[in-house]
Amino acid sequence: MTLVMNDRDVIDRIFSHIDNKTTDVGESVWREPVENYGSQERFDAEIALLRRLPVPFCPSAALPEKGSFVARTAAGTPLVVVRGDDGIVRAFRNSCRHRGMAVADGTGCTRAFVCPYHSWTYGLDGNLKYIPGADGFPGLDQATHGLVAVTAEERGGLIFVTQEDPVSNGALDAFPEFFQPEQDMFSQTEHLDEANWKLIAETSMEGYHIKSLHNRTFYPYGLDNINVVENFGTNSRIIFPFRRINKLRDIPREERHINGMATYVYQLFPNAHMSMLSSHTQLIILEPISPTETRTVVYRVRNLKADGTPVDLDVAERDAEFVKSSGIEEDREAARAIQVGLATNANSHFTFGHYEKAIVHFHENLDAHLAKLA
Ligand code: FES
Ligand SMILES: [Fe+2]
Repeated sequence: MTLVMNDRDVIDRIFSHIDNKTTDVGESVWREPVENYGSQERFDAEIALLRRLPVPFCPSAALPEKGSFVARTAAGTPLVVVRGDDGIVRAFRNSCRHRGMAVADGTGCTRAFVCPYHSWTYGLDGNLKYIPGADGFPGLDQATHGLVAVTAEERGGLIFVTQEDPVSNGALDAFPEFFQPEQDMFSQTEHLDEANWKLIAETSMEGYHIKSLHNRTFYPYGLDNINVVENFGTNSRIIFPFRRINKLRDIPREERHINGMATYVYQLFPNAHMSMLSSHTQLIILEPISPTETRTVVYRVRNLKADGTPVDLDVAERDAEFVKSSGIEEDREAARAIQVGLATNANSHFTFGHYEKAIVHFHENLDAHLAKLA
């Protein structure tokens, strides 16, 4: 199944947009009630939904070896995800079955999870293997006191976690392969913003703001409001071309490569996106903390050169630094400013127009999914 256009068709479409002063447009306008960006009730419903969908947790590259693990909170639930001795990735609630202490912290590689409190010890498959002084727990059935599993799936170079009874396949409805096994992770960072997670998500879904908001950062290199926007399943892909893409006009069509000429941003419904930049790819997960706070977790993976080996580390790091220190800060600032501005009560709704096609698709899907929970 072809989910999205191939690169050469994308290039043709971008040239057509440049020549005709057009861009991809949506068919409908969406009015989103502003109370959805601050209400506790709506927030609780969204968290409930995030627990009932397969949500990207980390790239496969974050778990390169048997015993590699990542522990962090997803939709308010502390989880640990680990690659087992059999190579299969499993996910568990990060809570000891004795008295609830977290059994894993941060990231690393281990042979077993040993609880720091009293050293109950769990295998990579979650089974409870050892209780010091087991005589003190007569009648305790070790077999039913393993770590509590949640569903983990590895697809296309990403790990998805579904915490509870799924309401739909979410991002997995339609899902491309993202990573090659040779691609490795070179950094992971987190930051906190005082903004609703959807305000941050919306900044990555349209190119209508490039000239205005990113006038001195992305705009000198990028084109304003010239985008290819494709919706597939619950997801979408937004392509942001660089000005230098015009150089490809001199190259025969079948020899053209898009690498370095555009940024591909895949929105993975509902709270993750992948940004494919020149030398690296970012998986960005928006973890809602409260109606007005969001923790953004970013995993960065090196892209491959034409010979199939990863780009040099310093090149990938420079690429990451440019993105981090320039336009992304402006997007975060915009989201925070909108959150503050909600107190004006000036707007009952925000209006998303034809240039905001992927945002309309996102809200349509979000509303449809929340309705299934009600
Ligand atoms: S709480 Fe984990 S061993 Fe006691
Ligand atoms: Fe932006």
